[in-house]
Amino acid sequence: MGQAETHPLTMDGHDPRNLRGDPITGDRYYSPEFAQREWDHMWTKIWHVAGRRNQLAEAGDYIVHDFLQESVFIVLQDDGSLKGFYNSCGHRGQRLVWETSSSDGFACPYHGWVWGVDGVLASLPDQDDFPQGDPCGKLKLKEVQVDCWGGFIWYSMDPDAEPLLDYLEPMPEIYKNYPMESAVRVSWYRIELNTNWKFATDNFVESYHTRTAHPQVPAWIDQDYWTSRLEMFPRGHGRTVQPLRPSLRDRLPEGEPLPFDDILREWDIDPDQYPDFETKVQQGWLDLKAQRRKLGPARGHTHYAQMNDEEITDSPHTVIFPNVTISFLPDEMIFFRTEPHPDDPNKCSFDLWSLVFPIEGTTEVEAGMVGQKKIEEAELIERVFDGGKGVPELKDSIVFQDMMLAEGQQRGLRSRGYEDAYLAAQETRVRFFHEVLNDYLEGRK
Ligand code: FES
Ligand SMILES: [Fe+2]
Repeated sequence: MGQAETHPLTMDGHDPRNLRGDPITGDRYYSPEFAQREWDHMWTKIWHVAGRRNQLAEAGDYIVHDFLQESVFIVLQDDGSLKGFYNSCGHRGQRLVWETSSSDGFACPYHGWVWGVDGVLASLPDQDDFPQGDPCGKLKLKEVQVDCWGGFIWYSMDPDAEPLLDYLEPMPEIYKNYPMESAVRVSWYRIELNTNWKFATDNFVESYHTRTAHPQVPAWIDQDYWTSRLEMFPRGHGRTVQPLRPSLRDRLPEGEPLPFDDILREWDIDPDQYPDFETKVQQGWLDLKAQRRKLGPARGHTHYAQMNDEEITDSPHTVIFPNVTISFLPDEMIFFRTEPHPDDPNKCSFDLWSLVFPIEGTTEVEAGMVGQKKIEEAELIERVFDGGKGVPELKDSIVFQDMMLAEGQQRGLRSRGYEDAYLAAQETRVRFFHEVLNDYLEGRK
């Protein structure tokens, strides 16, 4: 495995000439009319993540996904395929299921119609009393499209949606080397926030804020725009490929331990062998690639054998339009996703999942953002952010800092003093995101 190649669809995410210049007005973040347009023209067209494929083990296992006022459920079929249904009884519309669970059929609590795992009506009381015809074996629950990528289950409410892998282009091709299907979700949060859902995408498509908002980061991720690659793609997705090594721009005060030194030592590289900081950062990072490739598989990181030189030491921080972010690291993925609140565009829920790649012989890992975790599937933790008080265990983590900013930005965006963003070149993808959103709202996508 050699160098990574830039995908031919890549546009430069550091070049505002790739933009039309659509304004990013405040009403996009708080207006109920704007939120309604997002539902009518975007949310009902795109592919959504319902959950992880490994949540469904046996026929009849299902995942419920509520989105705004809608609800769907995805069910594992007898033949191992997946089907997704709107959560609405075909008799008179009663909601059928409330929580992710398992069943050999879906019995409606209202008049007792029973729908099979395949969505076909299996039985009903008084089936002779239908002059228009007995619906048993004929009526079906209305379906949504379902497919999988990366161990995630996706669905679309649009019967004419393009295939998932086309929608995600070029991510499936770019991330083919990562063992995404076998990742274990070791931490699973859903946090209620007082901000519009778009905060997260705006935030995750740029690293300009990180030096100010996340002072702990430059010592171990180089997020300077001239060393990162800022990429964006025609369907609205994008990546920031960041070297997992300290920034050369600044350094920790003399005597303060450098996390990069520990990483080098962990891979049997002596951090003191380099004559100066610059050499350690640049040559040490190259040495780390070679050493991980040499020692990784024998240490249980079998997936390193498939990875290229970039993947083995770097972090492609990836945003999938409109609301999913996956931060890829050599041994894990951090999945972030916001979804709008059903009634209030000033609120959203924020999902934070830590998914680790199995490492042979290892039962515990240090997972990104959430600390030491056993390598086993986690239970869902639901919290209200409450100005940070709701998740004290995440305090001072990067994502906590982002959530604090999220609520402050929502207030400022509602001010009459805010008109449009004044962006740096390295924030090009912020406006690009809004332009792709406008393409949906205006029927161009
Ligand atoms: S609404 Fe479901 S059986 Fe009547
Ligand atoms: Fe951030």
